[in-house]
Amino acid sequence: MKSQQKCIVIFALVCCFAVLVALIFSAVDVLGEDDDILNDDNCSDICQVVLVENIPEDISISHEGTTSLTAGLHSLLDLAQKSVEIVSPWWDLNSTEQDSRFPQAKQGRLLLHRLLGLKAQHVQLKIASSTASPELDLLSHYGADVRYLNMTALTKGLLHSSFWVVDRKHVYIGSAAMDWRSLSTLKELGIVVYECRCLAVDLHRIFNLYWQLEYKEFVPTIWSKRLSALYSKEEHFSFHLNGSLARAYFSSSPNIFRPKDRTTDTEAIFRVIQDAKRFICISMTDYLPLLSSTSHTKYWSRIDGMLREALVLKNLQIRLLISCREQTHPLTFNFLWSLQNLCIQISNCSMEARFFSPRVRDDGSPQDVHHHRYVVTDNSVYIGNLDWVGNEFVYNAGAGLVVSEPGRSSTLSGRLRAVFDRDWRSPYAKPLQPNKIPTCSWSTAGVKGHTGHTEDTAGPNASL
Ligand SMILES: *[C@@H]1O[C@H](CO)[C@@H](O)[C@H](O)[C@H]1NC(C)=O
Ligand SMILES: *[C@@H]1O[C@H](CO)[C@@H](O)[C@H](O)[C@H]1NC(C)=O
Ligand SMILES: *[C@@H]1O[C@H](CO)[C@@H](O)[C@H](O)[C@H]1NC(C)=O
Ligand SMILES: *[C@@H]1O[C@H](CO)[C@@H](O)[C@H](O)[C@H]1NC(C)=O
Ligand SMILES: *[C@@H]1O[C@H](CO)[C@@H](O)[C@H](O)[C@H]1NC(C)=O
Repeated sequence: MKSQQKCIVIFALVCCFAVLVALIFSAVDVLGEDDDILNDDNCSDICQVVLVENIPEDISISHEGTTSLTAGLHSLLDLAQKSVEIVSPWWDLNSTEQDSRFPQAKQGRLLLHRLLGLKAQHVQLKIASSTASPELDLLSHYGADVRYLNMTALTKGLLHSSFWVVDRKHVYIGSAAMDWRSLSTLKELGIVVYECRCLAVDLHRIFNLYWQLEYKEFVPTIWSKRLSALYSKEEHFSFHLNGSLARAYFSSSPNIFRPKDRTTDTEAIFRVIQDAKRFICISMTDYLPLLSSTSHTKYWSRIDGMLREALVLKNLQIRLLISCREQTHPLTFNFLWSLQNLCIQISNCSMEARFFSPRVRDDGSPQDVHHHRYVVTDNSVYIGNLDWVGNEFVYNAGAGLVVSEPGRSSTLSGRLRAVFDRDWRSPYAKPLQPNKIPTCSWSTAGVKGHTGHTEDTAGPNASL
């Protein structure tokens, strides 16, 4: 009897100890904020959405029912009353030295000035970043809360997430970084959702996850409940988007940054491709189903496999619009040819790739301009932060928004489809010629032992 009691006591102690260890190692903020509690009163299901785009001045295509990115971001700052949370792969808004060459470059500086002025308007600015920069020092000097993540220690990758959460009510997510180029010389696309607290709180949770990882050298195995996803591929947020019925959720990457219920980007893309009934249009900077590290490179089949299945087994029409630039990996073309060839002699199977290349440098090499990262199908859209390159999904942090419109009125997918068609039919989009590597790639085919998860070439050091 005695020994039995002893056993129970020891068991209880072990349990207590385990819970304590779990709490310590889970890096939870047990005392988090309370204001992300939602109820019917403040979870509005009537939201407004606009697609925002930056179209460089020297490219003669029109806004196809989209607003300018600059205007979209400023509208969010106009609305801000309490907080602005920003995550960006890098910061390079101060464009002073570029103003003479690129008139639109001043937009970067104007945005920076507005961000510097937020504190004076009693709006709290919070920034999560993985790299220090003079600009972030300046912002924190002006009262911004800046927290740094050591992505090298956490995932051996980079922070490629790019989104805003304003007052936990409005959001922006898309391809643009806080870079003057994103507001002038690059072609960017994103989405702004207004008055949508439920969705905004969910994106705020992804922001909070980064926020909690400051100073951490490892990723916690247990995440705080406050970081759990509110919506996922199983449980969408159902609402009215510009008056029509829609369902949405956010996804995030990499896999290890996944608290309870959060859908990963690859799962979200899989779902979007799987749900497509007629067509899939993909607009990306890079398409490369490879996973490379310093020591070796392997085939990363996740997305490539999904597309093959959609083509052969579901007879969907797929179109891929990829950026053609100097840094384009030569094997990109081999993979795309292989996809295109898959359709030979299969009726209703259609796969086409085009390369977007509007501008060349003085030496004739194609410049990096097309910076889109989205998919649109006949019933859904996915707008994300990551390129379709294996390393991006495996090592880098990013987020994405999936919106599906089950009804006949496809407000958002219709709009985005029009944007895709506009680019596809523009004179800047060149078809993939059989057996001929387009001139965007200057190096010869073959896998170099490069570490694909080094800085995206559109980064601050990209030459112009
Ligand atoms: C929603 O309302 C509840 C109770 O009215 C409040 O506690 C909570 O902070 C509100 N949430 C947000 C995000 O405003
Ligand atoms: C922007 O850069 C210029 C020159 O590099 C510098 O003189 C100026 O102080 C910077 N402005 C801000 C707001 O950082
Ligand atoms: C990030 O982590 C790596 C590996 O743990 C370490 O070598 C490096 O010094 C850290 N960087 C910073 C800025 O703390
Ligand atoms: C191809 O598409 C046509 C028209 O959409 C349809 O009638 C036909 O059944 C399809 N064929 C196959 C093999 O799916
Ligand atoms: C939604 O409505 C707003 C305001 O009426 C409009 O500006 C915007 O273009 C609409 N968005 C879409 C995707 O149709």
